[in-house]
Amino acid sequence: MNVVLGITGGIAAYKAPDLVRRLRERGAEVQIVMTASAGEFVTETALQAVSGRPIRSNLWDKEAEAAMSHIELARWADVVLIAPATAEVMARIVSGGAPDLLSTICLATEAPIALAPAMNHVMWSNPATQANRQVLEERGIHILGPGIGSQACGETGAGRMLEPDAIAATVFSITGAKGKGLLEGRKVVVTAGPTREAIDPVRYITNRSSGKMGYAIASAAAAQGADVVLISGPVSISAPPGVDIVNVESAEDMYTATHDAITDADIFIAAAAVADYRPANLADQKIKKNDEAMNLHLVRCPDILASVAALDGAPFTVGFAAETENVIDYARGKLEKKKLDMIVANRVGKDCGFDRDDNAATVLWRGGERSFPNSSKVDLARHLIELAAKHFYAARGSETQPGLTVRSNID
Ligand SMILES: Cc1cc2nc3c(=O)[nH]c(=O)nc-3n(C[C@H](O)[C@H](O)[C@H](O)COP(=O)(O)O)c2cc1C
Repeated sequence: MNVVLGITGGIAAYKAPDLVRRLRERGAEVQIVMTASAGEFVTETALQAVSGRPIRSNLWDKEAEAAMSHIELARWADVVLIAPATAEVMARIVSGGAPDLLSTICLATEAPIALAPAMNHVMWSNPATQANRQVLEERGIHILGPGIGSQACGETGAGRMLEPDAIAATVFSITGAKGKGLLEGRKVVVTAGPTREAIDPVRYITNRSSGKMGYAIASAAAAQGADVVLISGPVSISAPPGVDIVNVESAEDMYTATHDAITDADIFIAAAAVADYRPANLADQKIKKNDEAMNLHLVRCPDILASVAALDGAPFTVGFAAETENVIDYARGKLEKKKLDMIVANRVGKDCGFDRDDNAATVLWRGGERSFPNSSKVDLARHLIELAAKHFYAARGSETQPGLTVRSNID
């Protein structure tokens, strides 16, 4: 994957050499384009050494333009990543101006663009910056973070650049490029979304699952180099790049698709909210409202998770427990009863869990647990995949990838 990495003039530019290393560890070619202000925070020498390519910073550099013009750079890029992205560069991209090499490339490229903003929290929450963020998102530009925490100015708030490894992983997810990572050469099957259990040709029973958690997990697994099959119930979000998607409707369909895909899978992650019950009979025609009341006779749907965990040579199996009460107790019970390797317990309800972009979770396994505070589902998915990979390798007797260089952030 070819990454044009734009570095702009924020304090977080000191993390840029680490970001370059993380991208290259995952197999990316990185061409750095610095703004003039970025040079106040990080040296060209350091960046050239880690990227292995001459740095580009000047739109009017005749020699560099003759070698690879700004248009060629814009074409070469599979993704243009700006990290850190200043408030100023966000405004420049919104305005469509092209006063320097980096903003010219942003105008001239057809590749996806991702920005990792980094700035003082008051700058970030300023209505001008927020309006720019909104316009950029509406144009399909990916905004990565920012994170919340202590800042270089000594204050605390939203505006910290995401950690380099998180940025690198997300960039691979955006492009669908298969990175080198913890799960390189491994097959991961993920289920996501709700199921629909038909009552008659026009009606069905379903639930509030949006599929966002499962999609984020599939994406995070692909970013770690896995071959991913995503088996999805009906959702209104787009398929993540770089995964094979199988669309299904009912629990029965999802059961069949899962068992078709599970052969030779290393890890199975069941994030779908599969119906427990379905109507016993599917009416051929639309049911008419002739009576004051009607009874629906329901029968159990197949238990996909338990059926996979019970297979001979079952993959490392991770379930989800979405509960409204006694979340941890129910989850631990499910872990034992279904003989899972790991379970992700999360509270669901009107204001949490389903159909949102954020989530908090506690992951349980035999002999341990780990809690993750509320964060974006994308961030949570990345942590879950790292944790699952670590326990998968431990369960298989520490057979890690030969030559694996990407480090896990999970201790
Ligand atoms: C010491 C110092 C630190 C700065 N840190 C940031 C920052 O973290 N984020 C930001 O948006 N701007 C920051 N700025 C302001 C930018 O450097 C300034 O807006 C500059 O014009 C950005 O240009 P560029 O986007 O072309 O790199 C800082 C300025 C100074 C002097």
